[in-house]
Amino acid sequence: MARQIQFTETGGPEVLELVDVEPRDPGPGEIRIANRAVGLNFIDIYVRTGLYPAQPPSGLGTEGAGVVDAVGEGVEDFAEGDRVAYAQGPLGAYAEYITMDAEKAIALPEAIDFETAAAGMLKGLTVQYLLRQTYAIGEDDTILFHAAAGGVGSIACQWAHALGAHVIGTVSNEDKAGIAKRNGAWMTIDYTRESVPERVRELTDGAMVPVVYDSVGKDTWKDSLACLSKRGLMVSFGNASGPVEGVNLAELNKGGSLFVTRPSLNGYADTRERFEMMCDDLFAVLESGDVKIKIGQRFALEDAAEAHRALANRETTGSTILTL
Ligand SMILES: NC(=O)c1ccc[n+]([C@@H]2O[C@H](COP(=O)([O-])OP(=O)(O)OC[C@H]3O[C@@H](n4cnc5c(N)ncnc54)[C@H](OP(=O)(O)O)[C@@H]3O)[C@@H](O)[C@H]2O)c1
Repeated sequence: MARQIQFTETGGPEVLELVDVEPRDPGPGEIRIANRAVGLNFIDIYVRTGLYPAQPPSGLGTEGAGVVDAVGEGVEDFAEGDRVAYAQGPLGAYAEYITMDAEKAIALPEAIDFETAAAGMLKGLTVQYLLRQTYAIGEDDTILFHAAAGGVGSIACQWAHALGAHVIGTVSNEDKAGIAKRNGAWMTIDYTRESVPERVRELTDGAMVPVVYDSVGKDTWKDSLACLSKRGLMVSFGNASGPVEGVNLAELNKGGSLFVTRPSLNGYADTRERFEMMCDDLFAVLESGDVKIKIGQRFALEDAAEAHRALANRETTGSTILTL
């Protein structure tokens, strides 16, 4: 038997419970991984609350790193004992073991430890597509990135800085401003007390920015559009404050022929080739030292509910992992 977090109904953090389960044997094309560390993501909160669909009783979490423990029929790329990581597993990563499609796992380079991989795979691959594909950041671009001291934000500040961009990062307090700056943000704005469009106007001498990366959603949507230069791109990739609803397309016209996209990791890493290309890019910036995965907090697997409370209450910085 092995420990796993599951929920039998959607709701608050209290629905998460620790149970003992029999780890499933891998079927054809699958591997079983003995997790060594598990990644916590805001997306897990959307699943727990029912904003993103799941069918309880269900496991939770899609990101982790560990050692291959059993291999199903037809799997040629992995063998027992291999070090692997994953970001797009089936719900159930909050567990000692996970059985999943081998296609969704990647061999972990020796230089990257399990905790770094668990803390950086999903968030790092997200930053890869955001900065390198959705809008290819160029040297001297000035960009606006919301929630800059969070998990995704901490990686984005470092990676964008390495690409030569000037990051304006939004944060909710001074400590988080310091974190974003140390990660390479050029300037920060406290969006809980300052007008973001006004500050962006000042910082860019009226030019505004060609791209806004917005994972906050409902609370920042309007201000984000107001920060864009003509024909700018609004990248709405999350809903930490609630989903964006009732979008009026006329607003895009008013802002100057603006573009909007609502991307997801699964929409970019949708083939094995694309997944490997994105992992290669991520592993290269980790190995070069341009990006360091900052683990702000660790929780034991059985304290997953506490970890969810901290993430939802904006008490975390950088990445959060569950330890086993
Ligand atoms: N589309 C994709 O492919 C994709 C993939 C990964 C993540 N995401 C999204 O990216 C975002 C960041 O994910 P993460 O796991 O790294 O989380 P995170 O950034 O570490 O945590 C979320 C942060 O959002 C900010 N925030 C603003 N308003 C909030 C509110 N009302 N409630 C809670 N937090 C609020 C907080 O920072 P401040 O205190 O500084 O405001 C908080 O720390 C999430 O929205 C997630 O859904 C999207």
